[in-house]
Amino acid sequence: MYIKTLDIANFRNYEKQSVILSDGLNVFMGRNAQGKTNLLEAVCLCSIGRSPRTPRDKELIRWDNRRARVKVEVSTRAGTESVDIVLDKAENKRVAVNSLPITRMGELMGVVSTVFFSPDEIKIVSSSPGERRQFMDIALCQISRAYFYTLQRYNKVLSQRNKLLKSGRATDESLEVWDMQLAESGAKIVKTRRGFIARLAPFADENHRFLTADAENLELSYEGVDGETLEEVTANFLKELKNCRERDLFSGFTGIGPQKDDMKITAGGIDVRAYGSQGQRRTAALSLKLAELDLSKSEKGDSPVLLLDDVLSELDKPRQQKLLQRTAGLQTILTCTHIDEEVFAGVKNYKVFTVENGGVTPSV
Ligand SMILES: Nc1ncnc2c1ncn2[C@@H]1O[C@H](COP(=O)(O)OP(=O)(O)O)[C@@H](O)[C@H]1O
Ligand SMILES: [Mg+2]
Repeated sequence: MYIKTLDIANFRNYEKQSVILSDGLNVFMGRNAQGKTNLLEAVCLCSIGRSPRTPRDKELIRWDNRRARVKVEVSTRAGTESVDIVLDKAENKRVAVNSLPITRMGELMGVVSTVFFSPDEIKIVSSSPGERRQFMDIALCQISRAYFYTLQRYNKVLSQRNKLLKSGRATDESLEVWDMQLAESGAKIVKTRRGFIARLAPFADENHRFLTADAENLELSYEGVDGETLEEVTANFLKELKNCRERDLFSGFTGIGPQKDDMKITAGGIDVRAYGSQGQRRTAALSLKLAELDLSKSEKGDSPVLLLDDVLSELDKPRQQKLLQRTAGLQTILTCTHIDEEVFAGVKNYKVFTVENGGVTPSV
């Protein structure tokens, strides 16, 4: 799929801006703090319903304004679709898909599929397990709305169970009721994530070998409640909940389950989460994102839009060239401070925009 137009109003440092994109590589060039990342942020908002930079939507509204508006029009295999989002300082955000207001955020998932990568995404590899869970969840929600709803349900049950644990009024009977519900939706999450990692792994390995010129392989595995089938995972989860009950009652939190799980990432035989060099982790994070793109394309038949924020400056020249090679055949929106002719020499067609002080001008 590709984004045809992006229209924003009172979003970050933009008052009003309309951008017509090409279906190939789009390069947004400009000095620091001019509004390049803000554009990608607007696209992400329409894709996954939130900014990759902040969980607080209100920060996206232009200072001294009440409302921000973002509209994206995409061309997909199914035709043209649009997403329209209004952020209001005083009200909940409003989302419309194809001009019809939606009531559940799940309806937004997958309409505008994107894969976002920035230097900060190294956190997927180097930071806490929560970052890796978020990586899996954001990818999965775009592939499957059912997963989005299961996740919502699980989190609701989890917070109710935790509330009961903290209340001091929990009994074995009352906990058993929550454990059943928790295990039921939790097992679905574990099984879906484990399947996702298994299908992602070959793509991640392929991309990692490509980026490192075959110097290193990459292996992934899911770390969580054991079991292959849904029944097995449910049974194991229930057993572990029971084993941990004393501890949970003491801490007031549910200590096991998908909210604690992790993804193991092994590059060249070492666990890069703990022992990887900065460069290794950066490449592994990029391999994961490119793998997400490949997987999404193979499962949905339509490639997501690749968003690359300021990533060239972090890579050595051969990797910059390899990354640009990988963008062939898919829509990419890339931001940078300058264009290195040598790196871009191998790219057939690309459209350049200049970004300055909340304004975008296409180059001719
Ligand atoms: N809510 C906001 N209202 C107005 N300006 C904002 C808002 N949030 C950020 N900015 C401005 O946006 C600019 C940063 O934009 P950004 O896209 O991150 O820059 P870059 O081009 O370096 O990627 C800064 O000048 C910042 O002051
Ligand atoms: Mg930026």
